[in-house]
Amino acid sequence: MILVKDVSKKYEDEWVLKNVNVEFESGKIHGIVGMNGSGKTMLFKCICGFVRPDSGCVYVNGKRIGKDIDFPEDTGFIIETPGFLPDYTGFQNLKMLADVNRKIGAEEIKRTLERVGLDPYSKKQVKKYSLGMRERLGIAQAIMEAPKLLILDEPFNGLDKKGVEEVYGILQELKRQGTTILLASHNEMDIQTLCDDICEMELGVLSKLTCCAG
Ligand SMILES: Nc1ncnc2c1ncn2[C@@H]1O[C@H](COP(=O)(O)OP(=O)(O)OP(=O)(O)O)[C@@H](O)[C@H]1O
Ligand SMILES: [Mg+2]
Repeated sequence: MILVKDVSKKYEDEWVLKNVNVEFESGKIHGIVGMNGSGKTMLFKCICGFVRPDSGCVYVNGKRIGKDIDFPEDTGFIIETPGFLPDYTGFQNLKMLADVNRKIGAEEIKRTLERVGLDPYSKKQVKKYSLGMRERLGIAQAIMEAPKLLILDEPFNGLDKKGVEEVYGILQELKRQGTTILLASHNEMDIQTLCDDICEMELGVLSKLTCCAG
């Protein structure tokens, strides 16, 4: 479903992605590990269409990103820190975003907020949220429209133990429903527990690591 073909990206004199070739099969959880600055987020940005590679191409469901379509269809994502309007509540933020696609209404948003452990009726503005609450809201935003593809860059940032377990459960359930998930994490537990296969990024070079139980 996702095909990354000979993708390279250069900033000034530095190649941050070097001839990346990988295929991510549908309906699985694919993990990406690698040191700070190795290029994980950059690869996700290329797949999401936020960054254009200098060479090579990305196909999602047969459609070339940046040519056939600007961004992959039916995709939810968290890329680095999720951004929200600070003066609005969590519900209001999600409602504004949902109104763009008009796929879901208030009821689905409330259900999603509950699913990630946030109170849908809370009057608290996002600027008063803790780090973990903000991350939970980011996860809610990524999953609320039940996308077929979920791209999660460090989605466990700031989550407490219970939050991590809850999100594990959510991701496993989404996988059972057929969602394809790309997951970058520095936490080996997250990756080992959740992923069907693992890739490692090293200085812009991606290689397959292992197959695990999933
Ligand atoms: N806008 C930019 N301009 C120039 N260089 C950039 C830009 N964005 C990222 N880079 C560089 O690309 C390389 C890969 O960065 P990237 O954010 O993909 O790393 P990462 O693997 O996600 O790291 P981390 O684990 O810290 O999240 C780094 O050397 C970074 O400095
Ligand atoms: Mg990153």
